Amino acid sequence: MIREANSHSVADALSLLRQGELVAFPTETVYGLGADASNEAAVAKIFAAKGRPSDHPLIVHLAHQDALDEWASDIPKDALKLAEAFWPGPLTLILKRSSRVPDLVTGSQNTVGLRIPSHPVALALLDAFAGGVAAPSANRFGRISPTTAQHVEAELADHVKLILDGGACQVGLESTIVDLSTGQAKVLRPGGVSLQALSNVLGFEPEVLKKSKVKASGTLDSHYAPTKPTYLVKQIPSLDHIGVLSREAEPDGFSGLWLQADQSAEAYAQQLYSRLRILDASQVDSIYIEDIPTTKDWLAVQDRLERASFASNENESPEGKPSKETNK
Ligand code: TXA
Ligand code: MG
Repeated sequence: MIREANSHSVADALSLLRQGELVAFPTETVYGLGADASNEAAVAKIFAAKGRPSDHPLIVHLAHQDALDEWASDIPKDALKLAEAFWPGPLTLILKRSSRVPDLVTGSQNTVGLRIPSHPVALALLDAFAGGVAAPSANRFGRISPTTAQHVEAELADHVKLILDGGACQVGLESTIVDLSTGQAKVLRPGGVSLQALSNVLGFEPEVLKKSKVKASGTLDSHYAPTKPTYLVKQIPSLDHIGVLSREAEPDGFSGLWLQADQSAEAYAQQLYSRLRILDASQVDSIYIEDIPTTKDWLAVQDRLERASFASNENESPEGKPSKETNK
């Protein structure tokens, strides 16, 4: 059930968490599906609700930086610098785990993902809970992440007793994940904190771990290819049945569904998941997304668009693909 976030609904969310139940709540990035991170039975409900494989680790959400030592060990200086600069905010740190972190949360790895979100509703809930809340994005496994309470309800209504409604998420894309478990900062997922912002604090640009988009010459996966983008499709779509996401205005005479996206990376990101949902729920048969800039400020959006279109672009070279492993 969706309830407007206020002191009453947050108090009810708190008792549900304490009873080992799931609660969906807004963060500044996307809505999360939360459970008491110290309660394995509660965490197991997250995997069941999402249909997510249980070896995929979850992010533990905290209210205060002083809780860091309870959940992580051997914390490097750069981690503290990033925490200081970006928490509360859209940054997740991967650190060596402490012994209290249940295996189910970490996918049995020796690391744990930690984040302090900045959304006031998330912070109020976490502060009152005074423990860690494990929370993935509140969508079914592999689907579009939710940026409104209604998005959560559409997919998970049967699995979550309470969805706190805190309005549309301000960032609209997931947190930036920085792995510091080896001491050297590496970006595992671009997101709400830009590469530039990380670099400013670290004093160097961290490596972004992602398969290169550059196709190695000499590989034969792309062959016989025209220079124009070439699509192998089941059926040629008629213009009425095409959905488009473009930063250009809808041209005269277009008869499909054209959604005009924003010009800035931040605004584009904030609306992206809502627009993908609109296109997906519409009558169109296929969705065309127009290229976005290749500059670094668009990195997080580029990442999400590649993953959103991955399954439909199998005729491209596999080297150009992000790994499906991280596509959740
Ligand atoms: O913005 C966000 O991060 C949102 C909100 C709700 O906080 N959460 C989110 O969670 O996106 P989820 O579960 O949808 O994505 C978490 C990502 C996954 O790709 C997971 O593999 C990675 O974080 N992750 C979590 N713990 C990890 C660990 N110990 N090592 C490596 N990756 C980890
Ligand atoms: Mg997710």
